[in-house]
Amino acid sequence: MAKSVGILTGGGDCPGLNAVIRAVVRSADAAGWDAVGVREGWRGLVEPIFEDLGPAQVSGILPRGGTIIGTSRTNPFKLEGGVERVLQNFRERELDALIAIGGEDTLGVATRMFEEHQLPVVGVPKTIDNDLSGTDYTFGFDTAVSIATEAIDRLHTTAESHNRVMVVEVMGRHAGWIAVMSGIAGGADVILVPEIPVDFEEVAEAIRKRHARGKNFSIVVVSEGCELPGLEDAGEQDQFGHVILSKRGVGDALGREIEQRTGYETRVTVLGHVQRGGTPTPRDRVLATRFGLKAAELALAGEFGQMAALRGDDVVAVPLAEATAQLKVVTREWYDVAQAFFG
Ligand code: F6P
Repeated sequence: MAKSVGILTGGGDCPGLNAVIRAVVRSADAAGWDAVGVREGWRGLVEPIFEDLGPAQVSGILPRGGTIIGTSRTNPFKLEGGVERVLQNFRERELDALIAIGGEDTLGVATRMFEEHQLPVVGVPKTIDNDLSGTDYTFGFDTAVSIATEAIDRLHTTAESHNRVMVVEVMGRHAGWIAVMSGIAGGADVILVPEIPVDFEEVAEAIRKRHARGKNFSIVVVSEGCELPGLEDAGEQDQFGHVILSKRGVGDALGREIEQRTGYETRVTVLGHVQRGGTPTPRDRVLATRFGLKAAELALAGEFGQMAALRGDDVVAVPLAEATAQLKVVTREWYDVAQAFFG
């Protein structure tokens, strides 16, 4: 009987997931293995919900956003008997290996399942947030930055026409990578990230200075995870205990404060899930494809507890535990590059 590799995508979706699935399925098929889609992240192993995947099912999916096997933020460790059901369903479906494609939460579960329950799992790092420490870049990030940069470019022309301050709220959770990279690429006048405390007066002063030297519009990029003085958390949490940041209204609160302090008319754009949707950039397609090939190579060789990672220009294997040990946040050096153009 042929051996089988399961594939799951967990957490928030991002462009490039289908490219990984395609690469894994094609590799498995070439090696004479069966590939099985585990639907909707860890939920597919808890319930169970499986679907067979072969070259026909993955044909044409390379440029498609989202994930053909669905995703969810299910955490088996938070469900009564969840872990036991994952192990039992894995056994009953006669899977020999599992490839988990996810961010800190999904890969955190993968790490525990490997270390505490010997589940034969290999990880692939995805997230638009680019906040995983074990890899230089995650796929999905480049697409999100491209979308945010295009939005900033578009906001420039309307901001200039109306003499307005435009606040753009971007995603990224507790890491300001999308804000920093799209802000640098889009020539933002102020960039605010969760890693650096926000001082409203400094922001207002940068805008006033800019206007004093004849620029009658400004673009401010703010990361959804920024702590703003006086802004409370919305309270609602997902199964991994994360506050739903998009509901906090960081952009609106900042926009109100800027208008009050500077007197300049201010508008706010919240980019939200647009940053996660649609077709991946070529760079993300290539990175996701390379990660998929590496993960399949590791899984088929029985090298579990590893994650495919980008180091420089090489795709290598790193221990899963290393990937999820700590969040990779914006460094002072990167923020200095952004700050050189403030005001
Ligand atoms: O982790 C990816 C991400 O898009 C974050 O940037 C954002 O905070 C979160 O997911 C949004 O999650 P949801 O789609 O569950 O609202």
